[in-house]
Amino acid sequence: MDASESTAELGAGRIDRESTYYELYQKSVELGTWDAEKLVQKVGFEEDREVWESLEDDEKEQWARIISYFIDGEHAVAQDARRIMATVSSPWFDRSIEKEMFASALALEEAKHTQFFDLYLSNVMVDKFPQYELDTRRGGIQIPRTEACGAGKMFERQGTLQAQAAHGGDPVDIARAATNYHIGVEGILARGGYFAKNRMMQETPLPLLNKGFQFISTDEGRHITFGLELLQELIEKEREGIPEYQGVQNAIWEQSVEDIGYITDTGYFITGDVGDPLDVDFDDLVNRGARLAGDMLFDTLDLDNAEPRDYMQAAADAMEEARDSDYGAVIEKYDHIYEKKQAAGD
Ligand SMILES: [Fe+2]
Ligand SMILES: [Fe+2]
Repeated sequence: MDASESTAELGAGRIDRESTYYELYQKSVELGTWDAEKLVQKVGFEEDREVWESLEDDEKEQWARIISYFIDGEHAVAQDARRIMATVSSPWFDRSIEKEMFASALALEEAKHTQFFDLYLSNVMVDKFPQYELDTRRGGIQIPRTEACGAGKMFERQGTLQAQAAHGGDPVDIARAATNYHIGVEGILARGGYFAKNRMMQETPLPLLNKGFQFISTDEGRHITFGLELLQELIEKEREGIPEYQGVQNAIWEQSVEDIGYITDTGYFITGDVGDPLDVDFDDLVNRGARLAGDMLFDTLDLDNAEPRDYMQAAADAMEEARDSDYGAVIEKYDHIYEKKQAAGD
């Protein structure tokens, strides 16, 4: 190829270079190449360890609760990425190449996010995570803190929904799985987590953790855009009246309402339940989540059947339940289960 030839003039073969999925893939190739090991070596653990050691126990506990659902969540989305690859190659979508290309980038990025949190908590937050090594797919369970809150249930639900979508699922199954993964887990649970960690960083700046979060949240932005694109394709076909796609918008809405319960519970678990020593403010967190949900469900997807009142009611019910919940007792219960499983594995 002539070196003066710009990429704009490149011919297109079987890959559609005008596709949004292709653009997202290209962005991943350019921007998603950060290296977790190099980042850790460059910034170092020292400053984070120093800050960590200076914290009060309740402050450490608040961090441990949020990081616990991030590590288990990243691990869960990484494990389900192979199912997304299978789903987007199904004939329910008109084109698959560019979607598969992006899904492969997503798989690598989720693996890297898992790697970053794994390095971080086993080098900085060690005292709060004495039980952590078990693999959920090898007879293990999630971290007891994750198991105790809505996020843990949401990740389990994610595995089931993604399996249904990947193994011969129809458009409604695919819509349900994509809603849970890209809107619920990535779009609200993770982005709500960034809001919380930003507030917590004000009082306890953890520079390495913050840097990792910055890279991760940039990657996640692409994953969410990808998910919303997939859902828009399915909705378009439903609106065209194709019989197999009827029920797509209904599934998106139902799944969103189910997930907001898990998410609200997690929000309370990381704030009100520990006394919120690092000042996240539960109400602000809920408002942030509601805004994120509104942008995706109403502005971007413009769902026909969505009733905001149902959504707010589901969140309010979860809030009520969360206030009466004894998370500490549940953590303790899972601590014992974890210990037993660990002993059985040794
Ligand atoms: Fe991720
Ligand atoms: Fe993601």
